[in-house]
Amino acid sequence: MTALTLSTAAASGLRADAIVVGVAKGPKGPVVAPGAEAVDNAYDGGLAGILETLGASGSEGEVTKLPAPSGFKAPVVVAVGLGAVPEDEAGYDAEVLRRAAGVAARALSGAKKAAFALPVADAADAGAVAEGARLGAYGFDAYKEAGRSESAKDRKGPLGEVAVLGGKPRDAAYKAALARATALTEELNRARDLVNTPPNDLNPESFAAVATAAGKEHGIKVQVLDEKALVKGGYGGILGVGAGSAAGPRLVKLSYTSSKAKKHLAFVGKGITYDSGGISLKPAGHNETMKCDMAGAAAVFAAVVTAARLGLDVNVTGWLALAENMPSGSATRPGDVLRMYSGKTVEVLNTDAEGRLVLADALWKASEEKPDAIVDVATLTGAMVLALGNRTFGVMANDDAFRAAIVEAAEEVGEESWPMPLPEHLRKGMDSPTADIANMGERMGGGLVAGLFLREFVGEGITWAHLDIAGPAFNEAGPFGYTPKGGTGSAVRTLVRLAELTAAGDLG
Ligand code: BES
Ligand code: MN
Ligand code: ZN
Repeated sequence: MTALTLSTAAASGLRADAIVVGVAKGPKGPVVAPGAEAVDNAYDGGLAGILETLGASGSEGEVTKLPAPSGFKAPVVVAVGLGAVPEDEAGYDAEVLRRAAGVAARALSGAKKAAFALPVADAADAGAVAEGARLGAYGFDAYKEAGRSESAKDRKGPLGEVAVLGGKPRDAAYKAALARATALTEELNRARDLVNTPPNDLNPESFAAVATAAGKEHGIKVQVLDEKALVKGGYGGILGVGAGSAAGPRLVKLSYTSSKAKKHLAFVGKGITYDSGGISLKPAGHNETMKCDMAGAAAVFAAVVTAARLGLDVNVTGWLALAENMPSGSATRPGDVLRMYSGKTVEVLNTDAEGRLVLADALWKASEEKPDAIVDVATLTGAMVLALGNRTFGVMANDDAFRAAIVEAAEEVGEESWPMPLPEHLRKGMDSPTADIANMGERMGGGLVAGLFLREFVGEGITWAHLDIAGPAFNEAGPFGYTPKGGTGSAVRTLVRLAELTAAGDLG
């Protein structure tokens, strides 16, 4: 992965392939952003004019490459657009820096080293640049055999090294920001790898093995319930969803504990390693990307490992509800009734509404430990994608203040989310003549119906929130900002932020 350093070196003397500068959109044309003064001086203060001549405006996502001024060791200057010049003293938003760094890192794929001279005003800004660069440089090429395909030959590989300029490398706050960005982006990119790994290689068993190995590496206790243990424990939801697959289901528990913890958070992730729909088979056109249906579990996994690597003073338990949803002679049928881990019975009306079934068991199990709060993350419904689009996740909760705190935490770390309601009147649509509840209700408001279903499996009195990441988890369009095509690592940063806030006593 792209190496990260903080540097105070002068831009002119830096041995690198490129120097990245920021250019904002001013009222009368492009404006060179702070951090690039030395570079601008070397062009005799003419950088903005040169950029304008080259057609640059400073708008977000724009990249302009030009030869570096004479005397510079680096041959190229890359000017990356920052959008509008900030109106107030606060300067550039961390998310603007994160995105610009991501765009620049992507434009520099194949290069060995680049220095980023972006407008860094404090340690948090330096962390944002580092984060954006690492996330933007991400690529998934595990399945491109070098020399065997045209696309493999054209591949350049990620930018090798990023030196963040403008910070104070010896300052504790800057060091901490860089360390945080390093751990977070490593784990987030690993979550992306898991999502991108094809479902013939990533199944419940192999996902559990990845979690077990990571647990050993980072001092996290990992327990895996295999099929036998799930049967013994009565996990009817997870077993029912996994029943049609040759690859049996798993429930993985990751426990990170801190001796200084005052609070306990539980994260629960939907981990359907492939969602064919089961007997209620998805039509062609709807299943090609369904390897992404374990993105919630990947986010939970990444967040727990990041919390451990950062040594946060909070106990965090991660639950990965892993199953493959397949049709076969042994698969659950529409009409079957499952006896869930909680003891409730569920009539399965549609085997494609499987995420709520595996989550229900994991939520009830997580509740038994009486954590201070539970947050589940799931690519749960197409309805949420219709409602909020491809970049925003929905947040539902049994506590309005907690829901608001999550939306705020997401905003702080640059993730788009929106609060969604749990309207009581939608509950009766899931009444079943046969069982305690059905796994489907009214079609309208389907994302909220799913949230109401989950709520029934949260222990009495426990604060709970549900993040439906079906939209932002997998990017089928082209890359933008620091977001690649494919797995995005959606919700990882929000979960990590929630753990940090809880550790600091600022949540709940
Ligand atoms: N995994 C899907 C939801 C999904 C859709 C994720 C699009 C990512 C992108 C989920 O298991 C599902 O199939 N949900 C059904 C529920 C319905 C049958 C009640 C849906 O949303 O159509
Ligand atoms: Mn489904
Ligand atoms: Zn699904």
